[in-house]
Amino acid sequence: MKEARDAAEHSREMRRNGRKAAPVTLAERRIAPAADPALRARIEALAPWFHNMDLGGIRTAPDHFLGDYPAAKFARFADALPADLEGRSVLDIGCNAGFYALEMKRRRAGRVLAIDPDERYLAQARLAAEVLDVPDIEFRRLDVYDVGALGERFDLVIFMGVLYHLRHPLLALDLIHAHVADDLLLFQSMQRGSREVAPVAADYPFGETEHFFESSYPKLHFVEREYAHDWTNWWVPNRACSEAMLRAAGFAIETHAEEEVYLCRRTKRPYAERGAGPVYPARKDDA
Ligand SMILES: C[S@@+](CC[C@H](N)C(=O)[O-])C[C@H]1O[C@@H](n2cnc3c(N)ncnc32)[C@H](O)[C@@H]1O
Repeated sequence: MKEARDAAEHSREMRRNGRKAAPVTLAERRIAPAADPALRARIEALAPWFHNMDLGGIRTAPDHFLGDYPAAKFARFADALPADLEGRSVLDIGCNAGFYALEMKRRRAGRVLAIDPDERYLAQARLAAEVLDVPDIEFRRLDVYDVGALGERFDLVIFMGVLYHLRHPLLALDLIHAHVADDLLLFQSMQRGSREVAPVAADYPFGETEHFFESSYPKLHFVEREYAHDWTNWWVPNRACSEAMLRAAGFAIETHAEEEVYLCRRTKRPYAERGAGPVYPARKDDA
């Protein structure tokens, strides 16, 4: 789009004049001239937006309940990621309107595949990529449970804000480990309960039950009905549980990058030699 090209030209001009362009994220760009009514109509037709982005001078979610989301959150952990992803492949699972996929492209990632089961979010992401003039991200309708169908591994897998929306959260982490993660995993979950992390022994006798009452023991809270008016919230971990689930799925935590965000490296899954891994339920027709 013209407005996005104007912003890129402005940045080049600043560099030509020996001035460094302000370090803004794609989503923070203020793009002149005044917003195009046809673009506004396209943005509104895809509302509501969860990602607040600046598309041609139009904010997609200006009244977001979390503020300028996710740009404000990203600003708190952006430094934990490699500044230059030149040529590295990225899979963004649950990409929504594509904020993180776009940011990874800005860091010169190579292949970027962004998946989400929701067609409306994918349409938002395609529009954002078009307006911000980032043509080479592949957006595909796919569920995290189906990542095995990709047949491809990625240098960086982004799994942000999806875990607590799943009925089978550990299965999702197992599938990511088994099929698509090659090296780094960027993970975030809503967390509730204690922020403390209790030391957990390797084993306990059957009669020992006290530790289950500790609020800092790993706990995954089950939401039978709704939380935050959202029936898609199913399991909400406390901090100890987020960390324990990541380790149990074979992701070593390298950086606790933000309160809810972890940068992990794929490693050997505990108990792998005993066969524990993702389950694939048998059906009558499979026999
Ligand atoms: C809270 S938003 C998080 C969006 C983005 N990853 C972020 O962190 O800003 C949750 C996203 O997960 C997607 N999602 C929900 N269930 C999913 C599933 N089973 N597999 C993949 N994505 C899913 C939703 O469609 C939505 O885009």
